[in-house]
Amino acid sequence: MKHFLCLADLSPQEIWHLLDLAIELKEEWKRQGSNRPLLKGKVLGMIFQKPSLRTRVSFDMAMLHLGGHALYLSPQEIQLGVRESIPDVARVLSRYVDAIMARVFAHSDLVTLAQYSRVPVINGLSDYSHPCQGLADFLTIIEKKGRDLKGKKLAFVGDGNNVATSLLFGATKLGMDFAIATPPGYELPAQVWELGQKFAAESGSRILATHDPVEAVREADVLYTDVWTSMGQEAEAEARAKVFPPYQVNAALVAKAKPDVIVMHCLPAHRGQEITDDVADGPHSVLWDQAENRMHAQKAILVELMVGT
Ligand code: CP
Ligand code: NVA
Repeated sequence: MKHFLCLADLSPQEIWHLLDLAIELKEEWKRQGSNRPLLKGKVLGMIFQKPSLRTRVSFDMAMLHLGGHALYLSPQEIQLGVRESIPDVARVLSRYVDAIMARVFAHSDLVTLAQYSRVPVINGLSDYSHPCQGLADFLTIIEKKGRDLKGKKLAFVGDGNNVATSLLFGATKLGMDFAIATPPGYELPAQVWELGQKFAAESGSRILATHDPVEAVREADVLYTDVWTSMGQEAEAEARAKVFPPYQVNAALVAKAKPDVIVMHCLPAHRGQEITDDVADGPHSVLWDQAENRMHAQKAILVELMVGT
């Protein structure tokens, strides 16, 4: 593994390896309140074009716990591609730091960064995918539902966005069933779905895309939603707010899934829009364990990329 840009680039074995390493590092940290200093003296440069709570803090703490350091570079500082070309940013920054994490608008900018960087590049969210979120979410799913994902179903209800893309790739790589319900016009991009179909054929996942949320959540073990308007799409917020309400994850929709369904959301949540308070704070919700797992999953990515295992 040279970079961590998209779950589609990883084999199922590589994903399982990262999950196992995340479990090991999480257990170690829970047991002794610290990790071995596996990344002593290493520095992660973190480029942000967009705001963040979880990604920023969980990477920072992951580096700290592993004996390294994280450097936060705000949108104003780097001005990726504006103040300086992306290849030049990659050439210079990768002479200083041991790995780069970047949260960008255009996924192609991340690919350019990786192309010109001497050090590993990690996708901290792009318009295309959010693989750190996806890896952490499968860590949460196996903790809550066990490692045997065959025949288990993940239902995503909402926008066919970056998070849905990473969940499709993760599920179909790991052999889990996947259903997505979106409003017409907000489906996953065709080439994403085609990749999902290919991975599903290899792993035995069953996948479904529909416009009917009830059809998607039927027999679901995991019910997942995300914001209706992602960062960078703010101009569409009003139009989206008109078409998405039938896709709200509320108590009535949860009742259509399995009785022991877990409800997930990558956060930040717009309570009262894509998810209601009673569901976000209710007995099916695993939102806070899910958010914590970002840190554990990213420790595995960082260790794998910077020192190998
Ligand atoms: N889920 C997630 O990536 O959260 P942030 O945008 O706060 O980093
Ligand atoms: N789909 C959302 C996820 C935020 C973590 C966005 O891209 O804004």
